Amino acid sequence: MKLHASLIAAACALALSACGGGSDEQASTPASATTPAADPAAAPATGTGAQQTPAADPAPMDGGAATPADGADAAAAGAGPDTAAAGTAAAGDASGEATVTGCSVDVSGNDMMRYDVSSITIPSSCSEFTINLTHVGRLPEAAMGHNVVVTSEADMAAVAADGISAGAEAGYVKPNDDRVIAATDMIGGGESTSVTFEVSKMEAGGTYRFFCSFPGHAALMNGTIRIG
Ligand code: CO
Repeated sequence: MKLHASLIAAACALALSACGGGSDEQASTPASATTPAADPAAAPATGTGAQQTPAADPAPMDGGAATPADGADAAAAGAGPDTAAAGTAAAGDASGEATVTGCSVDVSGNDMMRYDVSSITIPSSCSEFTINLTHVGRLPEAAMGHNVVVTSEADMAAVAADGISAGAEAGYVKPNDDRVIAATDMIGGGESTSVTFEVSKMEAGGTYRFFCSFPGHAALMNGTIRIG
């Protein structure tokens, strides 16, 4: 029996138009044709259109995929804004935006190789800006040194690399590096330091980064700094 079914299926597969398509059309056509007598002209047209639509969908896979995606978007449109709003709110809470007081900000670094903030906005009214860094950990500078270096986003990687080359004696910041907008001393657990710089070194709307130039730290210890 199964063999027969397989053979029939295979035969149908070889002659899809004759088997499946033909019988289906014949099965549905009478049903729809029964109802509207004037529709036959429109019914076939609709049928043809419906057949062409799925036929056209597989051809452009992107289009085919986009169609259900659009449908899903439309269906989830109600939940979309809620999700987005929740995401925005969560991002805001977790953004680590530093509290700027006047024209200065307090930043801390810990023994877990982390700053306590990930975003600093300098008030546009400030001509100078001060970054106060406190190492709240206990590890010594040689093992878990932290500093704060400010550069453009584009310069960050190269400045960090050159800092490592400059070595510990240079505080892992290349001396007289014009790309460095500001840099604190390198400190260890329990220590504090600060740096004040001219905000005019930064452009409003520019993308800048602050990071720790201790070898291996910049990947985790970095954040955005901009003029608000
Ligand atoms: Co560090």
